[in-house]
Amino acid sequence: MPTHRLARCHNLEDLRREARRRAHPMVFDYLDGGADDEVTLRRNSRAFADYELLFRALVGVDAVDSATTVLGTPCAVPIIASPSAGNRLFHTEGEIAVARAAAEAGMIYCLSTLSSASMEAVAAASQGPKWFQLYVWKDRGLVREMLQRARAAGYGALILTVDFPVTGNRERDLRNQLLIPPKIRPRHVWQALTHPRWTLDYLRSPAIRYANLSEDQPAASLADFVAAQLHAGFDWHDVEWLLGEWSGPSLIKGVVRADDATRAVAAGFNGIMISNHGGRQLDHSPAPIDVLASIVDAAAGRAEVILDGGVRRGTDVLKALALGARAVSAARPYLYGLAAGGHAGVRRAFELLTTAVRRDMALLGIRTPAEMDASFIRRLSAPASLQQDTRT
Ligand code: GLV
Repeated sequence: MPTHRLARCHNLEDLRREARRRAHPMVFDYLDGGADDEVTLRRNSRAFADYELLFRALVGVDAVDSATTVLGTPCAVPIIASPSAGNRLFHTEGEIAVARAAAEAGMIYCLSTLSSASMEAVAAASQGPKWFQLYVWKDRGLVREMLQRARAAGYGALILTVDFPVTGNRERDLRNQLLIPPKIRPRHVWQALTHPRWTLDYLRSPAIRYANLSEDQPAASLADFVAAQLHAGFDWHDVEWLLGEWSGPSLIKGVVRADDATRAVAAGFNGIMISNHGGRQLDHSPAPIDVLASIVDAAAGRAEVILDGGVRRGTDVLKALALGARAVSAARPYLYGLAAGGHAGVRRAFELLTTAVRRDMALLGIRTPAEMDASFIRRLSAPASLQQDTRT
């Protein structure tokens, strides 16, 4: 995508529009869609509008510094690149482009188990801090092997995703008959022709596969693949086994209840990522911002809390910090950038977010993330998100 078009993207919604123009609709729907009626998908973002920021006047903000640490890892902004599957579906540069752009922006990059570039290839391409996200396979030997490979490749923390025992009901993908690798069926041909840049990219690049797994991967829907391969019976007893296999820092991703947060801390997790998988799993689960304070209370300083989901603006990041999050994490913003323009598009997405955080810190009257506290935020008594559509 020409750089001038990216430069004309002034927010993530602009990048989303460019992604929609370029990507095949079946792939854009996979990126953009959620489960069932997509109530949680929309709510994740809109819920931020139910909170107001009480800015402080005359602070002197000529030297704003957004740098912080998450689980001891330095980052230039309190934003983490959340794990997401199969990035080469959106652009041939895939996870490698995202990991590089994250490193350039000073962010921690999280690689998905279901990435379309191998963990070793991503580690070789980017020197920035990287964490590894794990889905639990039926085959414990495979889990052990993945952990060993992740450690050897330099991934500094393990993220266990726990909101994915089965795949959510994603009706856009069902309607599109999306398979991974995608199959261009006769019904997709017209859309392939009208999205030529994606189609040429796709046809010219090696077949998309889950690159951390063996070569033998017949095309399948995500739901069938997950049902065949992942361990739906995994529970808290298995967590003990898993954490015994991993010696470094660990995070649990996909928690929305305070009692689960308490249990996660007792189990030994160092970080809790509040997440409903971007509204892609259980519809009508709460927006992360609405449960954040209760989870911070439950963690009681024994684990760092990260808000994952719905972040589109600098103010979203600052609201999360005000309610006690150490950082936020986000995937769709960089995936819109990737689908719109590969590495340059991801860079633009990160640039929009990091610039916004620094500008909004200055406007709010804080110089460092550590200065943020609950005095800067209040929840509206009549939720704005219910009165008007402030977000698409
Ligand atoms: C995979 O994690 C997905 O949500 O599609």
